[in-house]
Amino acid sequence: MASPTSNIVPAESRKPATSNHKLELERQLQRRKLLRKKLSLRLGEVGSCLLEPGCGHGHWLTAYAAQYPNTICVGLDLLRERIEKARSKAARAGLEHVHFIKAELLECIECLPAGLKLQNIVFLFPDPWPKKRHHRRRMIQMDSLSALAERSMDDAKLYFRSDDSDYVEWTRELVCAHPDWQLDETLPWLFEQETLFQRKMLSYQSLQARRIVKE
Ligand SMILES: C[S@@+](CC[C@H](N)C(=O)[O-])C[C@H]1O[C@@H](n2cnc3c(N)ncnc32)[C@H](O)[C@@H]1O
Repeated sequence: MASPTSNIVPAESRKPATSNHKLELERQLQRRKLLRKKLSLRLGEVGSCLLEPGCGHGHWLTAYAAQYPNTICVGLDLLRERIEKARSKAARAGLEHVHFIKAELLECIECLPAGLKLQNIVFLFPDPWPKKRHHRRRMIQMDSLSALAERSMDDAKLYFRSDDSDYVEWTRELVCAHPDWQLDETLPWLFEQETLFQRKMLSYQSLQARRIVKE
């Protein structure tokens, strides 16, 4: 029997595993409901945009938005503190067409307003998750490439840059195997601006791809 000071919860009073699962599902539903509302308020009237998943502190996207005032830009990151820094940067520059959202990539795609299409998608130094057992956490997956293609314009383009050669090869292989994307090494890099992570890297590689338009 557990002592009075122990943290062990007696088996008979433990909640069944399904109740935690139920709670998590409810949290997820609530989070998605809020995200849908937020995205609809900001992007409900927008036809197309550039998406930068894993935008970090927003160096690249803020510079891009300053150069292209007619392109609606959306940066996503999981970390609130990075999103707040990115927002401050955009506000200081007086940029109203760039939106930094705290959200996970797939969740965000699912919650985008129905009329919004992605024109360009940019991954800059995404977390490489080098251990094999963590590869499933990488942002580039067959599923995410499918979800991105589904929400993209016919002539959408995808840009990827990383210092991790294994992640570059992973992305090259997935893009080559994917029915909706094809690598196009002739595409020029969309816009050069050093990111926080790029500044720390001695070398990196870039991949460019375009959406395959089906007849
Ligand atoms: C290595 S940092 C690179 C940041 C920035 N692109 C740069 O080059 O400085 C990767 C960023 O991706 C974010 N991230 C990782 N997985 C994500 C996901 N599934 N959805 C959105 N952001 C994600 C992390 O929070 C982190 O800020």
